[in-house]
Amino acid sequence: MDQAQKLRELVRGKPFNTVQNSNKKSETEIITITSGKGGVGKSNTSVNLACSLAENEKKVLIIDVDIGLGNTDLLLGVYPKFSLMQFLKGDCSLDQAIMNIYDNVDLIAGGELSTDDSLLSKGDKNLITTNLEKLRVYDYVIFDTGAGISSNVTYFCLAADRVLVLTTPEPTAITDAYALIKSLYNQSNEVQIEIVVNKASTEHEGKLTGKKLITVSKKFLSQQPIYLGFILEDKAVTNAVRKQVPYVKEYPSSPASKSVCKLAANLTGNQNINPKKRVGFLASLFKR
Ligand SMILES: Nc1ncnc2c1ncn2[C@@H]1O[C@H](COP(=O)(O)OP(=O)(O)O)[C@@H](O)[C@H]1O
Ligand SMILES: [Mg+2]
Repeated sequence: MDQAQKLRELVRGKPFNTVQNSNKKSETEIITITSGKGGVGKSNTSVNLACSLAENEKKVLIIDVDIGLGNTDLLLGVYPKFSLMQFLKGDCSLDQAIMNIYDNVDLIAGGELSTDDSLLSKGDKNLITTNLEKLRVYDYVIFDTGAGISSNVTYFCLAADRVLVLTTPEPTAITDAYALIKSLYNQSNEVQIEIVVNKASTEHEGKLTGKKLITVSKKFLSQQPIYLGFILEDKAVTNAVRKQVPYVKEYPSSPASKSVCKLAANLTGNQNINPKKRVGFLASLFKR
């Protein structure tokens, strides 16, 4: 039995009390941001999408699960005292691991890890026994993962309500995105995959790249991922990374910021894309 399944079974039948929060009307959505190839912009997208959602009155928590290599804290220019690893090891509470960054934007930083696999074995116990229901105060919980088809990445993809697979228009990134999409669909035909094309030179290139992935998925996997949108390639991104400030904050009128705002709108607008889908096992924790 894989760990995801074990966790799913353990949480079943253990309803959490409803958290009263007057500001929050809908259920928490769990979004996992991932990619086949590394360096395609997952962390930048996680951070800037979160900021953009926050500006639209959504309360967002970013959880950096790129274990050992996570750098969302660097992109936000913060130095968290505690991390996800410390929480999973039992060295701090969930509350202590959550750092407030901006209005409506909180972060749980990744932290250090010696081996890849220890995350879930340690996490299993802690995720279940600790205070996950506290996360219900968020509209969105965004998992920022590492690249590729590791067990950790798969775990967070299968745990999510929606998986945003990032690619760039480069053939190598598209091929790796397809390999990841194939692997995810092989493990679950209920996973909701949405494609985001980062570093697109035009809107058209974004759409075309998305279409390529959708076409091959339909043909060879009989599955149809959704095209969520694109983010333009923009020097503002690299400049903002150097300044350790999200580009939507530092350069709000830049092309990249405008495209990430559209992406946020698509994300919230797509909430009911498939009402039957609420399949991620962590989602069951958030049901009211
Ligand atoms: N839209 C973009 N335009 C230009 N450069 C980008 C864009 N998105 C990401 N980058 C560059 O790619 C680098 C890697 O991004 P990052 O978010 O760390 O990727 P990942 O998390 O997928 O490894 C960034 O430091 C930035 O320089
Ligand atoms: Mg990253």
